[in-house]
Amino acid sequence: MTLPDGPQILPLLQIMQTVVQPLEALDANFQKYGDLYTARLSGFGPLMVLSNPDGIETIMTASPDLFDSGRGNGMLAPFVGETSLILLDGKAHQRQRKLLTPPFHGDRLRGYGQEICQITRQMADLWQPGQTFSARQVTQAISLRVIMRTVFGVHTGEKAERLCHHLNAFLTFFDRPLNASFAFIPALQKDWGALSPWGRLVRKRAQIDDILYSEIQARRANPELQGDDILSLMLAARDETGEPMSDQELRDEMMTLLFAGHETTATALAWALYWLHWLPEVGAKVMTELAELGADPDPVDISRLPYLNAVCQETLRIYPVALFALARILNAPWNLMGYEFEPGTQFSICIYLLHHRPDLYPDPKQFRPERFLERQFSPYEYLPFGGGNRRCIGAAFALYEMKLVLATLLSCWQLQLASNGPTKPIRRGVTMAPAKGVPMRVVNRRSSSLPLSFKHPERMP
Ligand code: HEM
Repeated sequence: MTLPDGPQILPLLQIMQTVVQPLEALDANFQKYGDLYTARLSGFGPLMVLSNPDGIETIMTASPDLFDSGRGNGMLAPFVGETSLILLDGKAHQRQRKLLTPPFHGDRLRGYGQEICQITRQMADLWQPGQTFSARQVTQAISLRVIMRTVFGVHTGEKAERLCHHLNAFLTFFDRPLNASFAFIPALQKDWGALSPWGRLVRKRAQIDDILYSEIQARRANPELQGDDILSLMLAARDETGEPMSDQELRDEMMTLLFAGHETTATALAWALYWLHWLPEVGAKVMTELAELGADPDPVDISRLPYLNAVCQETLRIYPVALFALARILNAPWNLMGYEFEPGTQFSICIYLLHHRPDLYPDPKQFRPERFLERQFSPYEYLPFGGGNRRCIGAAFALYEMKLVLATLLSCWQLQLASNGPTKPIRRGVTMAPAKGVPMRVVNRRSSSLPLSFKHPERMP
């Protein structure tokens, strides 16, 4: 089998580049090898890196049996557990998706709107004029509470606070690029005691597990605690043989949603806050749109604002939170773009490279929300949430949350960036987050007498 051309440097160096300077390496490979090339990372078989829209459409619309994804995500098992949706394939995957998708759509999704705004307002009410804060920390705190409300039904109280604390500690482990390599190199995942990096992570995970398992037991013992949250739905679910989900399955899906659902949205929100303040004309247009809705707008009306929507889309285009969709592993011989591939071949759909194709997005390194008002992109030209049978189940929820959180923060406070230079993306776990978390300063409370203006940081006194 002849594979597409690709970088010839040592697989160990390729994986180090992927961890430390992923965007630079991707851009260089696209320039040299085009939109289908072979990457070789040590510890993995050859990966077909694809950013060709027709090729992506062929994969996303193929029969779900032709590709597996779950078995390619074994490296996530230490974080989300062996029975997580992300690690499943075939019938088991379909069954779990059916169960987990409805709470994130339709009336149930709209029902969370007021609570998302309320959680955001509570956080913003703690600010004082002149105070500085990290946008990434604030959006992480908000999105963690939002997802805890969705999954558990609560976001306050002693247990919720403990869970917040441990999850934050678990996630900050990946803040350093060196620690991020633990996620990619299984050989490093050794527990050498409480002081070793992996040992610390394992102990944090045990503390989180204690809280999740005790919540599961409390709910099983007290059916009156059941509510409109996802844990309640999962506890009530039965498979074809009438069996309920096991404690481990419940724990793994909760962990999956808590992780997939807050780290990603928090990063996207921090980027959006950055762009809105780095480009004051963009922020001003959003404020004008919001002002037209009047005081105390309905969350659904906020979610329909076209320019705010374009800002969120452009935020997810320029630095997609996930650089790649989940791996697609071929189950049968197959042809694509003139190559014949054998079963076992792994395709890595590169969302970042697709979103930076100059033929689709002229001046791809420019943040320009207007491009989403000027033309419509197909689901194979723009895919921040992946696609096909593995498309993110939280896509609609994440976009709704982004718009409501941004609208609430911007209507409560006038903010500014607290550092002058442009912000670069760095790896944070499996996501690409803004370096230094976007330091910001609280200027003043917004009131009707305040001008709805945005100022460039360099022009601030
Ligand atoms: C801005 C926020 C988010 C982004 C950018 C994002 C992105 C993605 C991407 C790229 C995938 C892989 C799709 C594929 O391979 O085709 C994915 C999968 C997934 N996402 Fe998200 N996501 C976000 C928020 C959320 C939220 C809020 C939840 C849940 C509450 C969630 C839950 C999941 C799950 C469970 C999967 C695995 C689906 C499967 O394997 O079938 N995500 N997400």
